[in-house]
This record gives sequence, C-alpha cells and structure tokens, in this order.
Amino acid sequence: MLLPLLLLPWAWGALAASPPVPPGSLTLRLLKTTVFHNASSRNVEGLALVGDLETHSMNCRTCEIRFLQPWAQQGLTPKQWQDLETVLHDYLSKFILLMNKVVKAEDEHYPFVIQASIGCELHPNGTSRHFCDAAVNGEDFISFNVDEGTWVAQHWRKLALNSRDFLNQDKGTIAMAQFLLRTTCVNELKSFVQYGKESLARQERPVAVVFARAPPPAGTPAPVLLVCRVTGFYPRPVRVAWLQDGEEVGPGGRLNSSGILPNADLTYQLRSSLAVGPGAGHSYACRVQHSSLGGRSLLIPWGHSRPWGPGLAVGITLGALAVAAVAVVLWWRMRRGHQDVPPEEPRA
Ligand SMILES: *[C@@H]1O[C@H](CO)[C@@H](O)[C@H](O)[C@H]1NC(C)=O
Ligand SMILES: *[C@@H]1O[C@H](CO)[C@@H](O)[C@H](O)[C@H]1NC(C)=O
Ligand SMILES: *[C@@H]1O[C@H](CO)[C@@H](O)[C@H](O)[C@H]1NC(C)=O
Repeated sequence: MLLPLLLLPWAWGALAASPPVPPGSLTLRLLKTTVFHNASSRNVEGLALVGDLETHSMNCRTCEIRFLQPWAQQGLTPKQWQDLETVLHDYLSKFILLMNKVVKAEDEHYPFVIQASIGCELHPNGTSRHFCDAAVNGEDFISFNVDEGTWVAQHWRKLALNSRDFLNQDKGTIAMAQFLLRTTCVNELKSFVQYGKESLARQERPVAVVFARAPPPAGTPAPVLLVCRVTGFYPRPVRVAWLQDGEEVGPGGRLNSSGILPNADLTYQLRSSLAVGPGAGHSYACRVQHSSLGGRSLLIPWGHSRPWGPGLAVGITLGALAVAAVAVVLWWRMRRGHQDVPPEEPRA
C-alpha cells in the first residue's frame, strides 16, 4: 500500500518534464453558405478563417471583403483586394446562374442550401494541400481536384453530375481557381503566419478538475466513472491521459472522451472519463499536456482535485521528497518498535 504512494509523486515529477504538443498544420479556409429560397431570392454569406480565427467576412451583395483582424489586409495591395472582390463577384454570379439552371433542368426543389469549403493547408514540413468542396443540404456534392483541374461528383444524383459537367466546360474559371488556390491562398497564408504571429500564437492555459460521476446502471462491471474536465485552453491541440498507479491507461473500453469542444471565448474544453473498478486500491490521476504549459504537464490526482499550475511541478517534486523522507522515518520507527506495538483492538 505504501509503495504506490511513494512511487506516484516521483512519477509526477518525471512526467512534469514531458515534451510539448507539436505544432500542427495551418489552414486558410473560406466558408461560403448560399441559401436558395427560390429562383429569384437567395442569401449568401462568406467567412474566412486562419485556423480557427475569423479573419475576413464577405458581404455577398457587393462581394466587399471586410477585415476582421488588424493583419488581415497584409499580403495583397488594396488594388489586388479589389480585383479579388471582382473575381469572387463574377464567380458567384456564374454559380447562381448555374444552380438555377440545373435545378430547373432536373426538376429539383427549392429551398436548398449549398455550403462550400475552399482553401489551402500549410504543413510544418513546408508542403501544402488545396481543397474546394461543396455540399448540398449537408451532403457532399461536388469537389475540385486542384492538381488535375477537374470537378468530381461526390454522388450520382443528376444535380451533382450535371453541375460537374457544366463546371468542367469552363476552362477559364478552372485555371483561375487553380491559381487562386495554389498561389494566392498559399502566399496569403504565409503572410498571415508572419503578420498575425501574435494572435495565432496566443496561448491560454488549461484548467482541469477531476470528479466522480454517478455510477452506471446496476449490472455493469464498473461502479465509478472518474471524469477529468479540462477547459479554457488555446490553441486546440491537447493530450489528456489517465494514469493508474503512475502508468498511462491504454486505449480501450474503460476510456471515453467528449472530443475537443469550443467555448464561447475562443478557448476549448474536453472531458475524458475512466471507468474504475470497485475498491482495487489503485491511485488515479488525470494528465494534461498542452503547448501553453511550457513542456510540463498538469497532473490532477483523483481525490485532491484542484487546478494545478505548471509552476507547482517543482513544488510537487519537493513535496514528494518530503513525503518520502517522512515515510522512510516512519517505516524505520515502525520496524524498530514493531514488537512493542499492541495488537489492534477490534472495533464495535
Ligand atoms: C422568393 O423567396 C423570398 C424569400 O423567402 C420571398 O420574399 C419571395 O416572395 C419569393 N419569390 C417568389 C417568386 O416566390
Ligand atoms: C508533409 O506533411 C504532411 C502532413 O503532415 C504529409 O501528409 C506529407 O506527406 C508530408 N510531405 C513530405 C514530403 O514529407
Ligand atoms: C461515451 O460518452 C458519450 C457521451 O459523452 C456517451 O454517449 C457514450 O455512450 C459513452 N460511451 C461509452 C462506451 O461509455
């Protein structure tokens, strides 16, 4: 019983020096939503994001681009932004004409919603990926193969097939789309990485608590569900693990996670739960690794739940030393005085 108590604080000390979560890819994405009410009325909304940060919005009556970050105008001259607005406006007009034509020809019905996700992704190794995908009423519909310069239908309804055939005839727009995705998008993303460094590198530390949830229904083997709630962190990538007696619990049926969910203030939260067997005498802790923690981890042991700052890692190690020293002294005393200790009295 004493052994896990002695070993666990040492494990915390060692784990507190774990490597930081590596940086991921960065994406510049234009999200466009078009609601076709009928042949003569529709609503169009456009929003651009770098990662999860909103950078531009578009008023689609005039296709005027609005800048939502102080650095969002970088990379292009005012004249080039205007040209981009013109290109988008022309493209949008063509797209609306095409949709109305296809709907009429195929006897499809209003209202319907088209969502498009268009952009590029820059990987840490310097390579990039480009994408342009559209969905109709939430279902994948058509996408653009940037390298081959062809539109590909994502399902075999006539709406997708006919749109594909119409779009593939328009070589001018295809060449323009390839240029915008491969060159403009990637250059803009690189320039945002440079000028928006401060906003993009924002770091918010996670706060974590561990608590026990109501036991699952009778008949299930695990009577206690430990929950680790981690919230308030930014950026999104995070690692949350459960430790049993200082050892990471491997993937399996005992673990469950909510996945990473957004908070209203552009931070994130996650819940991870561990099903725990009855009275097995194990110790448990939730370990959180995040880039804001400067290469250390948060460790929240079950039973002493409290948001621990990483600055306390040294404190944990010193505390562990103190506990170990006291335990060793007690152990020696117990061994020396063992013969003198009277047998424990039975309790009433
Ligand atoms: C088209 O939809 C709009 C918005 O729902 C509506 O105001 C308008 O009357 C409709 N027009 C026709 C021709 O149905
Ligand atoms: C670069 O990184 C991406 C994403 O991590 C990967 O898919 C791609 O294969 C890598 N390319 C090279 C040349 O290493
Ligand atoms: C995991 O958690 C979700 C809710 O967060 C729940 O709906 C689901 O049933 C859980 N899965 C297991 C295997 O416990």
